[in-house]
Amino acid sequence: MGEQSDPPGTAQSGQSRPLIIAANRLPVTRTEDGWAASPGGLVRALLPSVRDSGGKWVGWTGIADDEASLDGPIHLEGIEMHAVPLSASEIEDYYEGFSNDTLWPLYHDALRDSGYGAGDWEAYRIVNQRFANILAEIAPPDAMVWVHDYQLQLVPAMLRSQRTDVRIGFFNHIPFPPSELFVRLPWRNEIVEGLLGADLIGFQRRRGAENFAAVAEQLLDATVEFDDQPGDSRSIGVISRPGSAHVTRIGPFPISIDVGEFEELAAGRSTRQRVSSLRTRLGEPEVILLGVDRLDYTKGIGSRLKAFGALLDEGRLDPERHVLVQVATPTREGVDHYREERAEIERLVGEINGEHARVGYPVIHYFHRSLSLEDLIPLYRVADVMLVTPFRDGMNLVAKEYVATRLDHDGVLVLSEFTGAADELTDAVLVNPHDDEALKDAIETAVAMHRHERRSRMEAMRSLVVEHDVDHWASRFLAELAG
Ligand code: ADP
Ligand code: F6P
Repeated sequence: MGEQSDPPGTAQSGQSRPLIIAANRLPVTRTEDGWAASPGGLVRALLPSVRDSGGKWVGWTGIADDEASLDGPIHLEGIEMHAVPLSASEIEDYYEGFSNDTLWPLYHDALRDSGYGAGDWEAYRIVNQRFANILAEIAPPDAMVWVHDYQLQLVPAMLRSQRTDVRIGFFNHIPFPPSELFVRLPWRNEIVEGLLGADLIGFQRRRGAENFAAVAEQLLDATVEFDDQPGDSRSIGVISRPGSAHVTRIGPFPISIDVGEFEELAAGRSTRQRVSSLRTRLGEPEVILLGVDRLDYTKGIGSRLKAFGALLDEGRLDPERHVLVQVATPTREGVDHYREERAEIERLVGEINGEHARVGYPVIHYFHRSLSLEDLIPLYRVADVMLVTPFRDGMNLVAKEYVATRLDHDGVLVLSEFTGAADELTDAVLVNPHDDEALKDAIETAVAMHRHERRSRMEAMRSLVVEHDVDHWASRFLAELAG
C-alpha cells in the first residue's frame, strides 16, 4: 500500500507540519537506567511520523507526583516527550473518578452506575487545562495536534482558545454513547463544546459519529451535514454552529494493529517451539479455548466463564477434551466496580474448576497478569477458539491480534456483535453476549466447526486485517486532518 510508506506528518498528508500527540499516558516505562519506550500498536504507528516531522508527545508517566515532570522533556526514540504532572489526588479524581467511574460506564451502555461527583469533574477540567496549556506552549507554529481519548475531551477547545494556528484532531478510542445516555452527564454541554474545538473528530464506528452529531444538534443547536447516506461506513460529517466560522468534521476511522509485527513474531522459531510445549503442558486437549482481556466489566468475562461452565455441566463440552485459558490483565484497581468484577471472576473460576477439574488438570487456566508479546502470541497460535465477548467495546484489538497471528489460516473467532471489530470481522462467529443460550451455542459451533469452514472464514478475516492495519488508520486520519 503506497500510503503506508510515508510518515503521516509528512509526505502522504501533502505537507510537513510537526505532529504532536497528546494522550493520557506517555508511551514510556521507568527502568533502572531511566526510561524505555513502551511498545504498543498505536505508539509504533505514530512514532515515526512524530519523529520525522520534528513532533513531540505529551502525557502522564503513570506515576503519581512524578518528579520526571519537573526535569524537562524525556528524550526517547528520537522524540521529545513532555510529562504532565498529576498528583495522587488528581489520579483519584481525574483518572479513577471522572474518566473511569463517570465516563467509562456511561460510554459503555451504562453497564455499571456512574458516579457524578462535582470534585471529580473539577479535577478533570483542571487536568485537561494543564494538558492544553502544555500543548499551547510546546506546539511549533502550524503544528498538527492529535488528542487521544475520553480522558482529554476538553483539550481541543482549551487549546484552540490559545492557539488558532494549529490543526487539532481528536480520536475517541471508546464508543460514543447514544444521546439518551449522554445527556445524563451534568457537564454534557461542556464536553461537547470541548470536543467541537477540534477540526476533525474520529470515532471507531459510524454509529459513534452519528451519536455525537445528535448531541451537538440537540444541546448546542449545531447543524450537521453528512456527505452521503446514513450507514456509509466511511462518510464524513461537517458540524457548524450559528455565529461561528469554525467547523468540525467527524467520521469513522476504525483503529487497527501493527499486523507486520504480529505476523513476524508469530512466524518466529521461539513462538513455534512454545506452541507445541503449551499444548503438552495443557494436557494435550482436543480444543483449547482462549480469552485475553483487561479485567474490565465491559469485556463479558463472567458470562463467558458461565457459558463454558454450563456447556460442561450439560455434557456439551468434555473436561477431558476442552480447556479454557483466560488471561486477565489487572486494571484500574482503585475503582470499586473493577475490584468487584475481579472477585466475581475469580469466584467463577474456582466454582467451575471445583466442579470439573481433575487432579493436575484444571478446566480453566486463569492468569491475572499482563503478558509480554512473546508469551501472548504463542497463546493466540495454540488457541483453537478465541472468545472475544464484550458487552460493549470501542474496537477490541485482541480480536484483530488473534487473526493476524493465524498464519496457518486456522482457528475460530467468537466475537461479540457489540464490538467495533464486528463491523469488519463479519466472518467471525458473531454473538450477542447478553443472550446466555446464544453464547453457549456460539461456543459449541466454534468448537465443532469443520476445518474447511474454519479456513475460509479465517482467510477472509486475515485479508481484511492485513489490508487495514494501524498505519492505514493513522494515514487516513492524518490525511483527513491535513486536508
Ligand atoms: P482495551 O483497549 O479496552 O484494553 P483492546 O482489546 O482494544 O482492549 O486492547 C487490549 C490490548 O492489551 C491488546 O493489544 C492486547 O494484546 C493487550 N492485552 C490484553 N490483555 C493482555 C495481557 N493479559 N497481557 C498482555 N497484553 C494484554
Ligand atoms: O481504549 C481505552 C483505554 O482507556 C485507553 O485510553 C488506554 O490506553 C487503555 O484503555 C488502558 O486503560 P488505562 O490507561 O486506564 O490503563
